[in-house]
This record gives sequence, structure tokens and C-alpha cells, in this order.
Amino acid sequence: MLRSGADVAIVGAGLIGLATALELAQRGAQVRVFDRAEPARAASWAGAGMLAPYTERIEDRALLALCARSLDAYPAFVERVVHASGFDVELSLDGIVNAAFDDAKMLALREHAAELAAAGISADLLDRNATLAAQPALGRNVVGALVVRGEGYVDNRRLGRALAAACETSGVTIVRDAREVALECDARRALGVRSERGFTPASTVIVAAGAWSGSLPGLPEDCAPPVVPIKGQMLSLAIPRGFVRRTTWVPGAYLVPREDGRLLIGATAERVGFDERVTASGVRRLLDAALAAAPSLGDFSITETWAGLRPGSPDERPILGATPRAGLVLATGHYRNGILLTPVTATLLADFVATGDAAPLAAFSLARFGKDARVAARMNEV
Ligand code: GLY
Repeated sequence: MLRSGADVAIVGAGLIGLATALELAQRGAQVRVFDRAEPARAASWAGAGMLAPYTERIEDRALLALCARSLDAYPAFVERVVHASGFDVELSLDGIVNAAFDDAKMLALREHAAELAAAGISADLLDRNATLAAQPALGRNVVGALVVRGEGYVDNRRLGRALAAACETSGVTIVRDAREVALECDARRALGVRSERGFTPASTVIVAAGAWSGSLPGLPEDCAPPVVPIKGQMLSLAIPRGFVRRTTWVPGAYLVPREDGRLLIGATAERVGFDERVTASGVRRLLDAALAAAPSLGDFSITETWAGLRPGSPDERPILGATPRAGLVLATGHYRNGILLTPVTATLLADFVATGDAAPLAAFSLARFGKDARVAARMNEV
């Protein structure tokens, strides 16, 4: 348990910032979260909410282990958020269908299935007929599929709303639409957060500002995480409920259904700086990929297009924990896995704030980039 009255200021009310705030508050800390807009309205809102560490085929063992731990933690995490907020959150873990449309992809899926079996992960290889039975929206030219059981999606927009409410009912103060947010540090440690509303002293300041984490005013250069924005464009269709039954990967896109009858189609991955425009070529790429795999989707209306910025790091691992200034802590760089990594990040960060033990976060520390993270930042730039 944290000592009573410990004060934590968090910059960034995305899923990572909010979940960390909730965890800390429920352990007894006084927590204040600052956001320049509404909570969970940037990358947390823009993602598809896929929970897919195995389908994403993460090669990095440390990252895969972290993602797998977070997937395991998801049901209990959502239950806690629902309990604290009174809001419903849509969580579906009924497997992800990774569909093959040629023999080379099918061979790769077979190899992946063997690797998963060796690691004790439940997955099923489906032939063409079984694939069409599992996902009838796919085109007749599908060859087969790999279904990883236990993966799925969370409705990230609903999770964001629920987390904000859970934080507030748990005593967290969320400062919305904050202007001129800046960190204050002295030569040794973090002092607090300043905004147009004044100065909030804090013994711990957590930077959870996603793609903006490296450029926050007041952030000492040697503490700046080397994150860059990686744009993801997405769109949604209005489909009959059940028309696409499960989250499905097809070449060049993924299809993620929602209970309300939307089908999310994502996502591009573009290094174009802080550009959040939806472009004709981005949407065309997604639609080409989706309709090549599932031509019957072509009849449905487009209901929304949008884009968000993932916080990319040089090695695609998140950047968690200590900086050279005492009390200044990072929770950023989650790249493609921010929504998936939310529960485990909150637990690890709250443990770190409580104990000061950096060892469990060593593989994800800023220190892994060496003395000068700025070099890593430059290498990671567009
Ligand atoms: N995790 C999927 C994406 O970032 O597009």
C-alpha cells in the first residue's frame, strides 16, 4: 500500500494515464490528471481496441510477455472499472481470425500455429470451409485461417469513458481542457505540474502523454522519451449485427466488430509527424484491403473516418519508469499496443511509485537507450 496522502500528478488522460491514476487512487494516493482536451480522446479513442499479442506476431520476447500478461489481466481489469464506474464496457475475447488468401500465407499461419502450440497457446488452424463457417463475410477465395483463442477486442471508447468515471468516483481529480501544461523540475527532481490554473506540487509526476510525451514543456532533455507519432487512419461501416462475427485479420487490414453494428476497419501506420488528417489514399488503401478479402462489405455505408497518433518508440517497446530526475516517471511509447498494455502498465507503474524498485521495469526503462536518449529520438524521427 502507498502511504496515505502520497501525491501524484499525471500528464495525459488517455487510457494509460487514467488506468494508472485509478490504480494509484485505489491504493490510497491523491492523484490529479491533466489533459489538454477531454479524457481518452486521442490515440485511446482512435484505436480499434484489439487485444491481439499473438496475432500481431510480436517477435520481441520481453514485449510479448508483457502483452500476454496484460491480456490475462484484462477481464479482471474491466470488471474493476465497471464496478467503480457503473458503466458497461464491451469486452470480447472469443478469438481472432487471421485469414489466408494464398498458400504462402497459409504456410506462415501453419508455422505460427506450431510455435503457439509449443508455447502452450490455444489456437486452431481452419481449412477453407471451417473459415467460411467461422467468418461468412470473407470472400470465397479464402484458403484457411488461424484462430487464436482468448484474443479479441475491448471497446476502447467505452473503456475511456468508464475509466474517467471510475477515476472520479475513486477520488482522482481530472483537469480537462488544461492549457499551458508544463512540468516543473529542479536539478534533481520533479516538483509538480503547472497549467493556466496554477501550480500543482507533486512528489511524483508521470508523463503519459502518448505521442506528445517527448515534447512537453518543462521536460528536461535528458528525461525526454524518444517517442514519435505513427499515424493510424481508420474508418467504420454500418453493418447488420453479426455480419462480421469476430475480429478478423486480412492482408493489409483488420476488421473489428462492435455490438452496436459498427465494423471498424484499420489501420495505416504512417510516419508523417503530427498530421492527423484522414486522406483519400489512406482510406482507399484500407477499403481496397477490406473489400478484396470480404467483397460483400462493399454495400454498406461508411459511418465515420478518423485518424490518431500512436506513440512509437525506437524498439517498439513502451518506455516505463524512472528518469534521471527523481519523481519524474514515464509511461509512454506503447506504439501498437497501448490499449492492450493498459492494465499491466497501471499495475507496474503503481508498484514502481509505491516501492521505487526499478528492477521489474528494466527492460522498458528510458535507460536502455543509453546516456543520450536524444540520439534514439533522432533515429526514430520521420
Ligand atoms: N494494434 C493495432 C494498431 O495499432 O493498428
